[in-house]
Amino acid sequence: MTNVEQNIETPFIIEADFSTENSNLVAMAWSLPRPLSKFKSTMKKVTHVLFLLVILLPLYECAAQDTTSNGKYTFKKGDPNGIGKWYMGREIAYVMGFQGMDWLDRPEREEEENTFKLLHNMDISAGDTIADIGAGSGYHVFKMAQMAGEGLIYAVDIQDEMLAELRKNKENGTGKNVEVIKGSEKSVNLPENSVDKVLMVDVYHEFNYPMEMIASIKKALRVDGKIFLIEYRGEDDRVPIKRVHKMTEEQAVKEMQAAGMKLERNIGNLPWQHCMVFVKK
Ligand SMILES: C[S@@+](CC[C@H](N)C(=O)[O-])C[C@H]1O[C@@H](n2cnc3c(N)ncnc32)[C@H](O)[C@@H]1O
Repeated sequence: MTNVEQNIETPFIIEADFSTENSNLVAMAWSLPRPLSKFKSTMKKVTHVLFLLVILLPLYECAAQDTTSNGKYTFKKGDPNGIGKWYMGREIAYVMGFQGMDWLDRPEREEEENTFKLLHNMDISAGDTIADIGAGSGYHVFKMAQMAGEGLIYAVDIQDEMLAELRKNKENGTGKNVEVIKGSEKSVNLPENSVDKVLMVDVYHEFNYPMEMIASIKKALRVDGKIFLIEYRGEDDRVPIKRVHKMTEEQAVKEMQAAGMKLERNIGNLPWQHCMVFVKK
């Protein structure tokens, strides 16, 4: 009786079967010597549990494979602007298409984002090597190129149309020290240990493979290098940007920490965006 009660307290799926099994076991107990009947009863329960495990384990593994890949990314429906792929509790946003180039270059952008202040936050000095990852049409690239003097600006993007626009703007005169690089969804394709500063404006949240991208950026970054992660503030409802295109500081820190980076400081002087500075741990 004690055994049965213990079994009934085990997880639900087993409990149901044991409760049925119990009536047979009680009947058998009357016709067998007590120690033998107890042994047989225990063996029958053990067999039953093993049988259930053999049946249920593959089903559980199947279900797990439907929702995760490498254990890092989860797939489930979410926001209409998200791709249904999740990383550390955050849904990844759709990549902004090249058709949005005009929006990136909108005249009111300076007022809305205070790019002058952002670039000042980066403390750019002549000779710096800086990578703008997800450079788009080059809104920040050519401003930084002038500030870095004889330094070098890598302008990295994955869309051919953005790369063509970057090359066109480079030819217009202010981009002698700009090198345009085609990245991939998982890599920035930059030389190892070559970059002093990395700028990412409004792009990290749309990386399809954030973990792989940060690993690749970290490789390209010098030991004392810095990442300037600029994201619309997810904590602030007044920032008029779609939810999956914003990030909270807490989420950014969680993801960067997992990649071996730590928050040095969040410079809170931009109108809509976080200006988070990450360094190697
Ligand atoms: C919203 S735009 C921002 C462009 C630019 N940073 C700006 O603020 O003007 C995001 C850009 O990131 C690029 N992008 C998305 N995923 C990328 C990746 N894995 N590597 C490099 N660029 C990427 C997109 O092609 C797009 O041009």
